[in-house]
Amino acid sequence: MKSVINYLVIFCLVYRTYASLASGISFNTTKNITPAKFQCLFNSNVEKFIGKVYNPDGTFDDIGINNLINEYIEDYDDGNYDIAHIYVTPCLVNCKNGPDFNGDEQAKAIVKGLKIYFESYFMWINIDRTQPWSADQMKNRAFLTDFINTFFDLNGFVGIMTSNNSWSTIFGANFTVIDKAPFLLWINWNGIRDLTTDFTQFGGWMAPNIHEYAGNVITNSCIPGISVNFLVFDNSNDNFAPKKVVKVRSKFNRSS
Ligand SMILES: *[C@@H]1O[C@H](CO)[C@@H](O)[C@H](O)[C@H]1NC(C)=O
Ligand SMILES: *[C@@H]1O[C@H](CO)[C@@H](O)[C@H](O)[C@H]1NC(C)=O
Ligand SMILES: *[C@@H]1O[C@H](CO)[C@@H](O)[C@H](O)[C@H]1NC(C)=O
Repeated sequence: MKSVINYLVIFCLVYRTYASLASGISFNTTKNITPAKFQCLFNSNVEKFIGKVYNPDGTFDDIGINNLINEYIEDYDDGNYDIAHIYVTPCLVNCKNGPDFNGDEQAKAIVKGLKIYFESYFMWINIDRTQPWSADQMKNRAFLTDFINTFFDLNGFVGIMTSNNSWSTIFGANFTVIDKAPFLLWINWNGIRDLTTDFTQFGGWMAPNIHEYAGNVITNSCIPGISVNFLVFDNSNDNFAPKKVVKVRSKFNRSS
């Protein structure tokens, strides 16, 4: 019995060391979130935020960018780890930023557009099968490979935000981009705030770095009426370095 208890104690200590989790959120809102509201979120232990900056029609999301700028408040960014990341949903057809299914042009446009605001950032690419991806997996693979290669040359490592179902449908479960996109934000709204339950490998990722465990949730706390996605981050090693949203170059003033 004693050895069982010892074992449990050791297990718990080890587990605690490896399972350092942090709470975060993302949202796809068309509403402005004020610095006071971000402060409220931070005070309720929402440590991290992933903000939308780019729409699937190939335009920048001015309100989303503004929200990231609002988030960039002293109290929210006083740690040594990254607080905010950005995400983009690539444009596939009827793109306002260049030819359709052109990952290279699009990555260039995104980097160029964001330079006005951010000196540095870590970016997630949202891969969602409800978008008009091609039925031809090879065409989809070529698009994403071009996108990531160009983005990598300009800004370094990137992350992928997706579910097994979207990834497997769009590219095939075996398709991998981990050499330049080693980070996975795994979408699975199973309601379980951990990084392991229900995870099965796909796309070459061995484990997620972030789990989006609930989505489209509207609560009354801090940002009433805004539909929120809940995230849990693996905080045990802060490996999204060196990119975080820093040094906002100018306050929101885009006229587009
Ligand atoms: C974000 O919301 C807009 C407007 O409600 C919707 O058209 C779009 O599909 C959403 N995008 C994502 C990635 O959820
Ligand atoms: C992953 O998604 C694919 C495509 O939808 C599906 O065939 C496969 O069963 C899924 N795997 C798991 C473990 O859910
Ligand atoms: C995907 O990988 C699995 C395991 O390595 C293999 O059995 C399967 O044939 C592969 N599928 C394709 C379509 O390459």
